[in-house]
Amino acid sequence: MAFGPADVGATFCVRCLLARPMLRPWLLLAAAALAQQVDPLGDEDTKNAGIRISVNGHDTAQFVMLDSRWRYLYTVDGKSCASVSTDPGDMERCYLQGLKASRYSDSYGVFVGSPNNRAVTLRYATKDPDAPTPNYGSRVYLTDGEGYTQFAPLSGEISFDIDISKVPAGMNAAVYLVSMDTYGNMNSISNSGVMNVAGWRRGLGYCDAQCPTDLRFVQDKGFNQNNHYASCCPEMDLFEANRFVSAMTAHPCKLTSESVCDASKNKKCKAECDSNGADVNTFREYGPGHALFNNVDVMLPFTVTTRFITDNGYANGTLVEIEQELIQNGRAFKTSLTDQGAADTAEKFRSTNPFGQVYGGLAQMGKSLRAGMVLVIALWSDAGANMNWLLGINHLLHWLDSCDANKTEYECEKHAKFDDIVWEQAQSVKPGIWRGPVDYYPDFAESFETKDVAFNYAGIPLQIKRQVAFSCRGCETKDAPCDCASVPYAFTVSNIEVTHQPPRKQKPTKPSPSPGGGGGDGSHLVMQILVPMGIALAVAACLAFLCCYVCSEDDVENVRVRRRRKKLVKCQDTSESSSDS
Ligand SMILES: *[C@@H]1O[C@H](CO)[C@@H](O)[C@H](O)[C@H]1NC(C)=O
Ligand SMILES: *[C@@H]1O[C@H](CO)[C@@H](O)[C@H](O)[C@H]1NC(C)=O
Repeated sequence: MAFGPADVGATFCVRCLLARPMLRPWLLLAAAALAQQVDPLGDEDTKNAGIRISVNGHDTAQFVMLDSRWRYLYTVDGKSCASVSTDPGDMERCYLQGLKASRYSDSYGVFVGSPNNRAVTLRYATKDPDAPTPNYGSRVYLTDGEGYTQFAPLSGEISFDIDISKVPAGMNAAVYLVSMDTYGNMNSISNSGVMNVAGWRRGLGYCDAQCPTDLRFVQDKGFNQNNHYASCCPEMDLFEANRFVSAMTAHPCKLTSESVCDASKNKKCKAECDSNGADVNTFREYGPGHALFNNVDVMLPFTVTTRFITDNGYANGTLVEIEQELIQNGRAFKTSLTDQGAADTAEKFRSTNPFGQVYGGLAQMGKSLRAGMVLVIALWSDAGANMNWLLGINHLLHWLDSCDANKTEYECEKHAKFDDIVWEQAQSVKPGIWRGPVDYYPDFAESFETKDVAFNYAGIPLQIKRQVAFSCRGCETKDAPCDCASVPYAFTVSNIEVTHQPPRKQKPTKPSPSPGGGGGDGSHLVMQILVPMGIALAVAACLAFLCCYVCSEDDVENVRVRRRRKKLVKCQDTSESSSDS
């Protein structure tokens, strides 16, 4: 997004005008008519809290953006949007809260630039004294301050250090790539005719290969009433882990970029993407003796390096192998994902191989990696289903940490006391159904969530046998002096290094009629575009008039200016220096 001189003048001018108490209510009203979803006086500065990463060997600033679903959605009078209306247009006209850097940490447990300026730490449970209930988990994206950063590591690599010493069984510390829109669908116009002006600046636009329907807003469709829409896009899970188990998974989709599926009409929206994916999970293949802690000391940080190898060694080639190394103290543990390997794994575990047969395998995944994908860092637990994600609230179709079997073949619940014997029995019935020890306590609410638990199968390091409950007991009441310190879980990603061919940056989509896109009739679409554009033009004309009239009269008396643009810039200079003094 390049700001021309005129835009800069206009921005400065708005600030100058906002400094005038008499004009402020009118300006806010104008903003309310135009600016859906982003609070006009919101205090989030998209460059206010950053980390340093390395891109093609250059030290680069990146900023961390919390996803929109964690943000308060409120009306122009500061009321909770959901308590006032359920009309999609009203919801879209509500504001998504901007967050100061301190609120990232105090309310959501997102510590940007901590413990050093190359690191971000996500704490699992956090209680802001002003919030009624604790916050659990978070999901953040990297931005360069002008949109989500797109990484295109095809024939390149992504490397980072990770500390999962405080991520227990039943929790997922995830670092992954998804084909989200660079601008979080900014400037798109919803079915109810409201323009999304918040976009990436408030963490909008999420999609993944599970085609989630539980998002509040979906891409260019606006408010997702009754979970109508599924938000699908290719996903490359670099590392999903806790201190027992890790997985690397490729999830290509039929399309190489994001798409929306109408879940009210199409029951099989999930089929747009390979929601199972092709994964490498050593626990699944070799059992408890080959859990993550057998490969690295999980109590210390280690490096995860993932390379995307093409057939000709260039980014214009076809992806043929994803190689991953876990490196600690100069020792590397290596895994690899190929189309043949994915087919063998499918055969070994007696399931079909949609990855290769339906979704185009690594070649298809490679196309998305070439086009550029957004980096996601997330920490979550699955209260619904013990990371047995098939049944989970997230309706995910793969399993990090749990037992996965067809009931007539093997009833996981009847063999919940997980140990080496159970693992061997299950292996003889159906290899690969165990992905980790979590079903040792099958009822999440009766165990992980509210009670401390312990695992006892052979070979498990002493320090990670016991773990405390996930919920902040006693923090639920507003006045209790409680910061959830009893829940010590957190994870840290640091020293992110990417080598890639940066994709060409496009401007945010301009509203334009897309045949078959909106499903509305022609005149309706034209109205959707003309009305907001008309309002925008009218407001711009008013602002220009006000700015030149008011600012030039009052603020620029002793400045000789020949052209209006210079007046505008000067006007803002005056207001800034007066607010500094
Ligand atoms: C791929 O890129 C390499 C290096 O830029 C170039 O030499 C080669 O001709 C390209 N191949 C194709 C098929 O475009
Ligand atoms: C479960 O397994 C049985 C026996 O192998 C099979 O007949 C049945 O179709 C399977 N059910 C599902 C839902 O896959």
